[in-house]
Amino acid sequence: MIKDLKTVILAAGKGTRMKSDTPKVLHEIFSKPILGRVLDSAILSGSKENIVVTGHGADKVEKYISAAYGDYAVCALQEKQLGTAHALMSAADKLKGYEGTLLVLCGDTPLITGETLFDFVKFHNENNADITVMSALFDNPFGYGRIVRDGNNNIKAIIEEKDADIETKKIKEINAGIYCFNWKTVSGGLFEIKNYNSQNEYYLTDLIKWGIESSKKVFPYVLQSGDEILGINSKKQLAEATKIMKMRKLDELMDSGVTIVDPDTTYISPETEIEPDTVILPSVVIEGKNKIGKNCKIGPFSHLRGDCVIEDYVKIGNFVELKKATVKSHTNICHLSYVGDSFVGEHVNIGAGTITANYDSRTKTKSKTTIENNVSIGSNVVLVAPVKLGEKSFIGAGSVITTDVENNALAVTRSPKKEIKNYIK
Ligand code: UD1
Ligand code: CA
Repeated sequence: MIKDLKTVILAAGKGTRMKSDTPKVLHEIFSKPILGRVLDSAILSGSKENIVVTGHGADKVEKYISAAYGDYAVCALQEKQLGTAHALMSAADKLKGYEGTLLVLCGDTPLITGETLFDFVKFHNENNADITVMSALFDNPFGYGRIVRDGNNNIKAIIEEKDADIETKKIKEINAGIYCFNWKTVSGGLFEIKNYNSQNEYYLTDLIKWGIESSKKVFPYVLQSGDEILGINSKKQLAEATKIMKMRKLDELMDSGVTIVDPDTTYISPETEIEPDTVILPSVVIEGKNKIGKNCKIGPFSHLRGDCVIEDYVKIGNFVELKKATVKSHTNICHLSYVGDSFVGEHVNIGAGTITANYDSRTKTKSKTTIENNVSIGSNVVLVAPVKLGEKSFIGAGSVITTDVENNALAVTRSPKKEIKNYIK
């Protein structure tokens, strides 16, 4: 049964342990804020209307959301951070009259996948549940809320670490902080939650206790891979999450036929697509959204900075940086080059040390370089954009090219060699 689905993402917390001026949820993994990664998964699970609860650094977070997710998400301000239940209360106005399924997520768990959320929501709807709580088994459950079950293995309550006694602290089943609510039957309970606990906070976990006491249908949903709910509270955890996300991507690529010579030193963003039989050599960093064809050779030491489209049989070699570049098939950019805001045709050879000078720092504008099919560029060439090199043109080594070059022409700007005889004497 398909029901309406909306999502609230709690993202007002401070993130003190990040020791940063940037709000916690705007720290990036593969050049995308962790909040964006959570939102992507919510959207993938089928949630088209999303509410982000903001607080700390609200102006920055709101700016990011309206720029990157304007069509999918709105923000609700939680002026004071009085707890997770209070955060959800702050979004309640925007949910007035809503009677469908509500998914609640934390803005600091970027590894949760769209597939998992989809299955979770499906489980909730199929059970006609009022409340479904996502849990996982952790060897080291320290810091998390513990799931307390009764004699019949039904969920009884969630107790926070700070409120737990010795016996409760031994429980290894933890609360992921991800919930599904039947908003029609559960929203009333939210405003009954009190802040009688060690932190004087309004705990969203108390809504589970409320549900059980008022005979609602409450289900746990035990997650198999605990990785997905790793929360980011420190720079160390940010690095850990980056590593997990990167390994997921590399595994997926290797399974689909891409050769990754050294996974330890290879960083490829989740948004990059690569076709089979392409070889990625060690120490390659690929960020942002890119498409790479088959039978290419990338690396060692190449850096793709996003918006690159690379066709088949292309070689990108050491110390080559690409940004916003289309490179057609059978083209080589093998050594020490920067190619940005560029179109590079087929069968082009770009010599070592070729640079597209695409940026005017005075006007802060960028310009395009077009290199047509079968162009050959010698070493140490600067192409000052905007500029176009016509088909089969030839650029002499050491040239600085500031104007377009015709098809089939040779362009050289090198100053003539001067030789002073017997200079040493
Ligand atoms: C919460 C859960 C805990 C669970 C854990 C999972 C409660 C009381 N506890 O604890 O059971 O194991 O998550 O990671 O819910 N936030 C707000 N406004 C607030 C407080 C928090 O928006 O006033 C947001 C935070 O930005 C964060 C999320 O809610 O994204 C969770 O808050 P956090 O303080 O990290 O809760 P935990 O103590 O980790
Ligand atoms: Ca947390």
